[in-house]
Amino acid sequence: PRKIIIDTDPGQDDAAAIMLAFGSPEELQVLGITTVAGNVPLSYTSRNARIVCELCDRRDTKVFAGADKPIARKLVTAEHVHGKTGLDGPVLAEPTMALQPQHSVDFIIDTLRSEPQSAVTLCTLGPLTNIGLAFQKAPDIVPRVRELVMMGGGFFEGGNITPAAEFNIYVDPEAADIVLRSGIPIVMMPLDVTHRLLTRKDRVKRMADLGTRPAIAMVEMLEFFERFDVEKYGSDGGPLHDPTVIAYLLKPELFKGRTCNVEIEVKSELTVGMTVVDWWHVTDRKRNVQVMRDVDADGFFDLLIERFARI
Ligand code: BDR
Ligand code: CA
Repeated sequence: PRKIIIDTDPGQDDAAAIMLAFGSPEELQVLGITTVAGNVPLSYTSRNARIVCELCDRRDTKVFAGADKPIARKLVTAEHVHGKTGLDGPVLAEPTMALQPQHSVDFIIDTLRSEPQSAVTLCTLGPLTNIGLAFQKAPDIVPRVRELVMMGGGFFEGGNITPAAEFNIYVDPEAADIVLRSGIPIVMMPLDVTHRLLTRKDRVKRMADLGTRPAIAMVEMLEFFERFDVEKYGSDGGPLHDPTVIAYLLKPELFKGRTCNVEIEVKSELTVGMTVVDWWHVTDRKRNVQVMRDVDADGFFDLLIERFARI
């Protein structure tokens, strides 16, 4: 299986992504889960990651707590979407498994150094703070990364936290800038893709019909998570952002995009955190990111349900 580190700020959709990885042990080996402050503060994201492991009977997973704030800014959170704990919805027991003593950043550095060259894929589901810090602290690990697949950004679709910016990039634009300039292979799942993956009633019902404890907990999480979009925009459900990262590793053919230059706005007050995507190749700047724009939504949900059935 492909070796991955999941860097995350759970988040109901982060939880769905972690569970999708747990349901795919033949393809993916989760070396560790590293948490970051984002949707909710670090104490909650570190708690939530462990709750997800326990829900799926995967207490053997190593969970590391990471950065509690962005590299250069004050933390912005998203309780308005995810609730106070980040996993609002189901009644969940507090986790009993321990956090690892190491900091996420050091775990990322040590793992990239000790695993073979180009063996480790980084899957990022939240602000890029831990990865940015690791690249700053240990530049020797940068060329050792096989690939980084991230949920973040939005271009034709615009932003979800400001008109210009998507949440994960907005929270820590300096970290995103470090990562995008690093030269590693990057795949980006922006809002342009994730806004096509709505938790429609028929899709959630398929999940509920699985009847397992993790599936039922996920249904209750999604019912909470979608309220924001359903109430504010009258959508057919909430957008299932983060599982796209894992789905890409399992079935890349579900997604379509283009390799182009992407840069992050870090200065302007109006557009900070914007992912400036040179989709039409109007510059000759380095084509540093494979940006996805399209997804086979039915294929994505078939995969999700199939893998949840295996947890
Ligand atoms: C991203 O922000 C968070 O709210 C979600 O978990 C996802 O990672 C979407 O903009
Ligand atoms: Ca997330």
